[in-house]
Amino acid sequence: MTLSQSREYAQVNRSKDVPWYLPSINPRLRGDALTKLLKEYSGISEDKQEAHLLAIREKAYAIYPMPCIGLFWWLVLGLSLHPAYPALLQFLKTAPQKKVLDLGTCLGQDLRKLAFDGVPVSSLYGCDIMPAYQAMGHELFRDEPTFGSQFIHGDLFAREDAGDALLATKGSWDVIVLNMFLHAYSLPQQTQAAARILALLSSAPQSKILGIQAASTTAGAHVLKYPFLKPGVEKEIWRHSRESLVTMWEEVAKKAGVKVRVWAEYRDRVELGTKDDAMRHTKAKGFFKGEAGDQRRLFFLIERI
Ligand SMILES: C[S@@+](CC[C@H](N)C(=O)[O-])C[C@H]1O[C@@H](n2cnc3c(N)ncnc32)[C@H](O)[C@@H]1O
Repeated sequence: MTLSQSREYAQVNRSKDVPWYLPSINPRLRGDALTKLLKEYSGISEDKQEAHLLAIREKAYAIYPMPCIGLFWWLVLGLSLHPAYPALLQFLKTAPQKKVLDLGTCLGQDLRKLAFDGVPVSSLYGCDIMPAYQAMGHELFRDEPTFGSQFIHGDLFAREDAGDALLATKGSWDVIVLNMFLHAYSLPQQTQAAARILALLSSAPQSKILGIQAASTTAGAHVLKYPFLKPGVEKEIWRHSRESLVTMWEEVAKKAGVKVRVWAEYRDRVELGTKDDAMRHTKAKGFFKGEAGDQRRLFFLIERI
């Protein structure tokens, strides 16, 4: 089953009158790295970039109205902000060809940044449950002829016997990028996903999983409801703290008999500044109510030893 056939898809609130559908692009999101990427990788001149980005946001939001898309998170090039990014580039450039999987790739901005920073395109793959994002990524970066066949349409939560294209790649990835993905799930689901992701990873030492997720200094369950979902619909998600995320990965690895080193650290939400602009922009209606002061971005790295 694809997301577009799922109950979750049918229950999502498609309204734009939500705190995360920003009316304009927050200037903090558009760093020089993005401007340069769009100009030099995609050939879009600076004066045309704003209109291009706004148009892509409309189309991507129509596919599935994810907060990340509404907030323009994808302009941040999150992977390149990861403290392990310079070492990752080194790892990917100096070793014999390595394979990178960006899991929940969406528009694929992190893969394009890796390509622009010198990683061979033939190393770079994205996977998403929403196949329509492949074409959106090409439209955003104008790179269909050169970034053509690197998209896996798969479901991280597919049943083992479902013949899923992602599960068919078990054990083959040197690097798995996991940006802004698992925080949309409950703790049991995140734990199940972590075990799957570990199984997707190559058994070679130094193979790694790295990423970013929304976190809180106080770990705990939250209930997503309106306006994220349609009125009356609820879904449980889990916000990790640094400690709970480290514990989850360590326990999953131990159970699988895999030796790993786990690192995680909070960073400020750079794209929003100290005040949450998303919430200031519009009338917040209870999304993550009571959590604001505890909210963090959590950067993590799980490496096989
Ligand atoms: C919040 S977005 C983050 C996108 C991107 N990594 C970023 O940082 O901008 C999460 C992505 O995960 C995808 N996704 C959600 N559930 C999935 C699943 N079960 N299997 C594969 N992809 C999934 C969504 O379609 C979406 O594109």
